[in-house]
Amino acid sequence: MNSKEPDQQPNDPASLDQTYLWRPFTQMQDWMQVRPVVIASGSGATLVDDQGREYLDCNASIWTNLHGHKRRELDAALKNQIDQISHSSPLGLSNIPAPLLAQKLADSTQNDSVDNRVEGPELKKVFFSDDGSTAMEVALKLSFEATRRRYGKAKPSFISVKNAYHGDTIGAVSAGKVDLFHQSFGPMLFPTETVMSPYCYRCPFNQGTPERTDARLWRRCHWECVSEVESRFDEEKRNNIRTGAAGNDDDGPNSFSTFIVEPIMQGAAGMIAQPEGWLQRVIQIVRDYGAQWIADEVMTGFGRTGPLFAFQKGGVRPDFLALAKGLTGGYLPMAATLTTEEVFEEFLGSYEDFKTFFHGHSYTANQLGAAVGLKSFELLETTHNESHRTKIAGWIREGLRPLWNLPVVGDIRQEGTVVGIELVKDWKTREPFPLEAQAGIRVCNRLKELGVLTRPIGSVLVFMTPYCISEEETRKALEKYAQAIQSELM
Ligand SMILES: Cc1ncc(COP(=O)(O)O)c(C=O)c1O
Repeated sequence: MNSKEPDQQPNDPASLDQTYLWRPFTQMQDWMQVRPVVIASGSGATLVDDQGREYLDCNASIWTNLHGHKRRELDAALKNQIDQISHSSPLGLSNIPAPLLAQKLADSTQNDSVDNRVEGPELKKVFFSDDGSTAMEVALKLSFEATRRRYGKAKPSFISVKNAYHGDTIGAVSAGKVDLFHQSFGPMLFPTETVMSPYCYRCPFNQGTPERTDARLWRRCHWECVSEVESRFDEEKRNNIRTGAAGNDDDGPNSFSTFIVEPIMQGAAGMIAQPEGWLQRVIQIVRDYGAQWIADEVMTGFGRTGPLFAFQKGGVRPDFLALAKGLTGGYLPMAATLTTEEVFEEFLGSYEDFKTFFHGHSYTANQLGAAVGLKSFELLETTHNESHRTKIAGWIREGLRPLWNLPVVGDIRQEGTVVGIELVKDWKTREPFPLEAQAGIRVCNRLKELGVLTRPIGSVLVFMTPYCISEEETRKALEKYAQAIQSELM
């Protein structure tokens, strides 16, 4: 089926798109029915389509864009780098901007946050790749192999959190816990274990009665989500002792080898924000059992939750840190996995020992990405620093207030400049909209008509803009969220 409309030209990009392109995470049968929005340009927080219509980018171009589109400083950094060279092989050659960016990344992970001292190992080594999935794939492989080498474990094991999304490569899907994706690819995946998500709004242990505020504030529980982590680790340890897979406590992990989580907020899971203290408690358990942790900060990194990295907000530093999306301010595909000197040393040896990390990508440490990434860092430390981001978070909190009056708004979860708005049939009962009601999609379609672009996660609306957004733009955008919810669902 093709949706050629009468006035479409043979080279109309929308028509070419529908004829030739296969879009990610998209039911193409639906995609081919309606002329898509074709983005032709952008400036600041605004995107402009090929018909000249303007939209506010309330999904930060799939959570990548930090400083706005066509940002003068980033454009200049990119152009300057192009005048030197765009790309050379990462194999056997170094370049100028990538080591500088690596140093910046490593140094910046050492900082405490404004509010917290951060405990944990030093992250000194940076492995560049291309996107969030590859950053996670690298973390998984490094963690697996380093554990095997250091402790002689035959098969290090992983545990991650229900609903987690860590990317689409086979390793990342194995670590992920989205049932829908597992159904298709289950037989291709390696086994990993799961603990419950700290999803207060829908937690079976939450005995509280819904109030018109974030469920984390009205929850009544006994931290059963943390106890479950403890008992899963304990159970695995007892299994390992029984089968002889566990060594002495001094021999490293005697339970799961690696815990994987997005600190502070699980993004694609539905913007599930962790109750304060969850991360610290859970990481303490992970450490007590000698396990490592991989922090997936593909979404939360680069100031999204407040401090530069979400682990700083939680006060606990990981052994592996996966970064992508915002690394280049939303300009170019580039990712990084950071880890410790100790992990790095497991891969050192003479050539014929073959201890090399046999993994890599052609565009690793790309100069254009690195040059823009460095400039983006500068903006994160100046114009869009933590206090500016705190100011935006305040505007957002204020703009969200009226949404609590809508009976179909069940929960609003905000961490810094990231928001998830969960839509329900009735806030008092928390009854969800049935899948076929397509509540999130309908509201987002209405928002598009109102000049606001975002993408739902099921019945959760996302609000995440570039940091260049103004107070006025924030207020108006959130008014439109309320308007779209009312007109579609009430
Ligand atoms: C937390 C998290 N990890 C990994 C990924 C995968 O990143 P990418 O789409 O760049 O491969 C995503 C993407 O949304 C993500 O949100």
